[in-house]
This record gives sequence, C-alpha cells and structure tokens, in this order.
Amino acid sequence: MKRIVLAILGAFMALAAPAAAQTATTGARSESTTDHSRLKPLMREFASGPEMTAACVSCHTEAADQVMRTLHCTWDFTNPATV
Ligand code: HEC
Repeated sequence: MKRIVLAILGAFMALAAPAAAQTATTGARSESTTDHSRLKPLMREFASGPEMTAACVSCHTEAADQVMRTLHCTWDFTNPATV
C-alpha cells in the first residue's frame, strides 16, 4: 500500500516539481523561500520515481495524506448539476 501511495504521490509531485523548480529559479517572481536545487536530500541520482518521491516526503510530511484526500484520488463528489 505504501508503494502505491508513493507512486500516486510521485505522479502528482512530478507535475509539481517543475513548477517548484521554476518558481525557485525565477528570482523576483519567486514566492518560495526554498531553492530545491540546493537541498542535499535531492542532490543524488534516483533509481525510480517512488524513490525520489520518498525523498520529497521526508520533508513534505503531510503531502501523501493530502494527495490521498483530493478529488482525484477519492472520486467522492456529488455534482449538483447531475443529481
Ligand atoms: C529538505 C527538505 C525538502 C525536500 C527534500 C523537498 N522539499 Fe519541497 N519544499 C520544502 C520547503 C521548506 C518548502 C516551502 C517553501 C516556502 O513555502 O517558501 C517546499 C515547497 C515546495 C513546493 C511549493 C508548495 C508547498 O507545498 O509549499 C512544492 C511544489 C515542492 N516543495 C515540491 C517538492 C518536490 C516535488 C520534492 C521532491 C523532488 C521536494 N519538494 C523536496 C522542503 C523540501
């Protein structure tokens, strides 16, 4: 189960990473206080997506739980237009 959560989170994080990296490197437009290109846990080769995601969640401790509660994962939504 943990591997599945990490794989799903990996997909979300893969989408978020370029945005985070871009934000971190665009100087004046950046609102982040963190430049991920300077974070030691990320300064190595990763053998797989889940392995990299594990590095992300070492800091982003609530991300896995938050992703699992999104609409994309729960499919729990009642559309008022179609009920
Ligand atoms: C060493 C700790 C650390 C690691 C490892 C790390 N991050 Fe972050 N990340 C942070 C911190 C701290 C912030 C908050 C920056 C701010 O709010 O200014 C942040 C912010 C972000 C944000 C902006 C949205 C948010 O939740 O604040 C994204 C997206 C993000 N990180 C993605 C990633 C991804 C993807 C990885 C793995 C490839 C990763 N991070 C690895 C510490 C880390």
